[in-house]
This record gives sequence, C-alpha cells and structure tokens, in this order.
Amino acid sequence: MLLDGQPVNSCLMLTFQAAGHEVTTVEGLGSGLPNAFLQLGAVQCGYCTPGVLVAAEGLLCANPDPAEAEIRHALAGNICRCTGFETIVQAVAARAAACRRGTRQ
Ligand code: FES
Repeated sequence: MLLDGQPVNSCLMLTFQAAGHEVTTVEGLGSGLPNAFLQLGAVQCGYCTPGVLVAAEGLLCANPDPAEAEIRHALAGNICRCTGFETIVQAVAARAAACRRGTRQ
C-alpha cells in the first residue's frame, strides 16, 4: 500500500501506525496504470499485480520521468514469476510517458 504516497509493506505494519496518514491500496488507484498493464500484457496470473501496481504508482508520484533502471529498482521488492518483468517495465514507462503528455489513459 501507499502510506502518504510512499510504498510500504502493509503486512509489516500495525494498524495504529497508519493513524493520521493517507493510506492508498490498489483499489484506490486510478485506471491509468492498470490499463497500461493490460494493454501491454503485463498481467498474467495476477498474483503479483497489486503490489507491482502500488509500487509503480509510488514511483510515478515521486518521479514522473523514471529511467528504466529506476523503474526496475522501484519494483525490486516484487517478484513476478510470469512476465519476466519486461512488459511490466514497459507498462510503467508507457504510463509515465502518457502522464507527461497529459493523457490519462
Ligand atoms: Fe503472475 Fe506476476 S503475473 S506472478
């Protein structure tokens, strides 16, 4: 989840630690990043997808123009057994580019 816009492992936090902070889960993300994942085939079984989406959203909030290495670093805490990460990195980069162009999709 995002805690005040920063990715954190929700399973390692106690509820009271989130008091007074803005919490965003994958359900609170807009459709832009998930749509980019779908369009580029970055979702297969979907097991990793919520964590990857939240980590990517946290990256794009902090850095709207990430280099590929920065995307890979931001996603390093997530393991995807299906995609090999190439399409995931492409989807995050595509979403970043769309946001810079002002395209919300
Ligand atoms: Fe299956 Fe990532 S899509 S683990």
